Amino acid sequence: MTAADVPAAERLSSAAFYELDLRTFQRGWPDPSPRSPERAARWHRRTEHLLRTDPGGCWVADADGVVVGFATSLTRELMWILASYAVRPGVQDRGIGRALLEVAQHHGRGCLRGMLNASADPRAVRLYATAGFRLHPQLLLWGRVDRSLLPVVEHVREGTDGDRDLLDSLDRRTRGAAHGPDHEHLATELRLLVTDRPAGSGYAYVTPSGAPIVLAASSRRAATALMWEALASTDPDEPVEIAHVSPANDWAVDLAMAARLDVWSSGFLALRGMKEPTPYIPHGSLL
Ligand SMILES: CC(C)(COP(=O)(O)OP(=O)(O)OC[C@H]1O[C@@H](n2cnc3c(N)ncnc32)[C@H](O)[C@@H]1OP(=O)(O)O)[C@@H](O)C(=O)NCCC(=O)NCCS
Repeated sequence: MTAADVPAAERLSSAAFYELDLRTFQRGWPDPSPRSPERAARWHRRTEHLLRTDPGGCWVADADGVVVGFATSLTRELMWILASYAVRPGVQDRGIGRALLEVAQHHGRGCLRGMLNASADPRAVRLYATAGFRLHPQLLLWGRVDRSLLPVVEHVREGTDGDRDLLDSLDRRTRGAAHGPDHEHLATELRLLVTDRPAGSGYAYVTPSGAPIVLAASSRRAATALMWEALASTDPDEPVEIAHVSPANDWAVDLAMAARLDVWSSGFLALRGMKEPTPYIPHGSLL
């Protein structure tokens, strides 16, 4: 993949995931919607970041000059991560996906661990399971946050660049590899919350709508404090969505119950050579 392929890969990704959402969406869930221009722009920036840090992990399948599939992946310390992966609807099921996954995995050939977020597409699930990944069903927490349920949270502050070593230590402790250069990218897009106390430390990157989209902590208590602080910044009239909660993170389910959020199941956390990280909420593509 080169920078010139990014717009075509984004359009393909948007079409493939929208088509998948239409096929798999659950009753009671908000109707699937096409990707917004803001989300598309974030996809571009994230993929350009990966092309800078991991050019050898990013591939497209090309048919007569047309992008028909892509896979982006990264290595961080001894971990290989599949960031995003899709084949154009209409040419799926012809072996293009398996070939792309193989070349992307070659980028992680020295890695002991692997991690990816699997969609609910049975073809994706088959490809990951046959590549040696164990599948852990993920939960999605969703709903409007009633202000009267918010507890008083102490010892959580805004993070700074000076916290990077702490963030990397927490990542190594929970998921076995630091985010390293990804902090640069995450910090430009998201608010950083940090707690650093003798009893427990942790961090969370939080979207402008109050969803923690990466969270790592040394204790359940620190993780819970960070999640509440993030939820305090939600708009009470807008639902918040916290995705990628794996079963070992029951502290997040306890919090969802206290905040009266709905709990849905959505896709799988696929892991190779490692246990489920906890207390940890993985990023959708940088994990
Ligand atoms: C997942 C995806 C990238 C795979 O690409 P693809 O080109 O369709 O995949 P391939 O044809 O190489 O392989 C599909 C595999 O699933 C199998 N398969 C096909 N239909 C299946 C079904 N209904 N259930 C289970 N397995 C199925 C195929 O037999 C093949 O396995 P095999 O090689 O062992 O025979 C593509 O289907 C896609 O873009 N899906 C929507 C987006 C998505 O979910 N992306 C993954 C994000 S984690």
